[in-house]
Amino acid sequence: QAAPVRIDVQANRTGATIEPDIFGQFAEHLGTGIYGGVWVGKDSPIPNVRGIRTDVLQALKAIKVPNVRWPGGCFADEYHWREGIGPKRVERVNASWGGVIEPNTFGTHEFMDFVDQLGAETFLSVNVGSGTVQEAADWMEYLTTDKPTTLQKERAANGHPAPYKIKYLGLGNENWGCGGAMSNDHYVEEMKQFAHYSRNLNPDQNHAVPPVGGAQSHPNAMKRVAVGWDSGNSDYTESVMKAWKSKVWSWDIEGVSLHGYTIPNNWEKKGPSVGFGEDEYAKGIKATLAMKEWIAKQSAIMDRYDPEKKLGLYVDEWGIWVDPNPGSNPGFLQQQNTLRDAVIAALNLNIFARNADRVRGTNIAQMVNVLQAMILTDGPKMLLTPTYHVYHMYVPFQGAKVVPVSFEAGTYTHGGITLPRVDAIAARGTDGKLYLSLTNVDANKPARITAAVPGARRATGQVLTGPAVDTHNSFDNPNRIAPKPFSGRVSGGQLTFDLPAKSVAVVEVQ
Ligand code: AHR
Repeated sequence: QAAPVRIDVQANRTGATIEPDIFGQFAEHLGTGIYGGVWVGKDSPIPNVRGIRTDVLQALKAIKVPNVRWPGGCFADEYHWREGIGPKRVERVNASWGGVIEPNTFGTHEFMDFVDQLGAETFLSVNVGSGTVQEAADWMEYLTTDKPTTLQKERAANGHPAPYKIKYLGLGNENWGCGGAMSNDHYVEEMKQFAHYSRNLNPDQNHAVPPVGGAQSHPNAMKRVAVGWDSGNSDYTESVMKAWKSKVWSWDIEGVSLHGYTIPNNWEKKGPSVGFGEDEYAKGIKATLAMKEWIAKQSAIMDRYDPEKKLGLYVDEWGIWVDPNPGSNPGFLQQQNTLRDAVIAALNLNIFARNADRVRGTNIAQMVNVLQAMILTDGPKMLLTPTYHVYHMYVPFQGAKVVPVSFEAGTYTHGGITLPRVDAIAARGTDGKLYLSLTNVDANKPARITAAVPGARRATGQVLTGPAVDTHNSFDNPNRIAPKPFSGRVSGGQLTFDLPAKSVAVVEVQ
């Protein structure tokens, strides 16, 4: 047994709000992320509501998905919205992902119906790479105007007379790479036009008329998110922020993105998603902790131009990316999801919470069947992944206020890699209760954690762990890893937790 870790919880103080959008999801037209995973079509024997599969929807509702980013990813920069509306859809090759036919049967209305059934907000990415400013402007008018324009009438004819709400508009995606390989200066010039002309005309959100000063002033105003940092390169963030600082009245943005994937080894050979041991585990945890430095670096750039923190940092793609399942289409990015990935999810959510003054949203890649998914499906079968369970356990942190904690984590060493042994965050929930999340990174040893919380009478919740670092659920055994009840001992305002090796626990303190 390693030395106990003492956590000082400043239970009477609160800091920044952990925006619910920090728990956002990303759903791209990639592999079976949409087709099969979310959309089965109205005539499917798989139970569905207007084509959206019921089992997946119900599971996602339980984790209170705040927003869904769609239609990509790289796919967004070759997506033409007109091909996915009305009775006749355009079939194309999905050149970004797997070279399969993209039937466009899941288009604008189907996506909006999906988020509506889910009770989530929308995060649309417009096509900056191969689309035009006019195409994006038309999409926005089609979606949001309440005036009887030609596009509004077309929307009504397609079944939705009332305007839709759009919470976030991504201005392109990775335009330094798959989104057109643009130089940072070139992107900035394009981005300014998309930011200006992509008008949200919904009277409940309108910031386009009049444009001067309007964007920030409307409480429901759509937030435009420009492309920023790639894991290794800050050029875009620097250029976007510099342009924003000296902007003229006609354009504005409300956020800059950061994409940062966890690659345990290297891009050519990333590592297995299952059937691995402690070596891969330690490499994966080490790789994921880079998120802390990436956010620090991008925040430092943003702070130089925006010390008042008017703009948000949106980590709108993150998660572990490993080798595809053997035998699957490599362009489908299908991977298993293990206890390691649950620990990775918790460590990242903790990093986001600690940076909640700047990080206002994140979207894990991706929601169903792709990369670090919440849910895997196989025809009519469905399973919840360890990462899903972490999202479920973290629901009380949505909208909670950070409570400062300090602790000396100690270390866990394996194969020459030394990592912080434990991690913890605390927050005051919207229900007024104190919540603690505790993670034991150590693959072998339990961790005793003590926390002084004056007046505490009970600390109960759930813990997620398993026999091996690659413990996972399968369609044959979908409940091999699931949260179990967990509680601390309380004595004189002191809480004591015995946290199993390689585990994540969330408790409510009463
Ligand atoms: O999430 C998979 C891909 O990763 C996205 O399409 C792209 O934006 C990123 O490179």
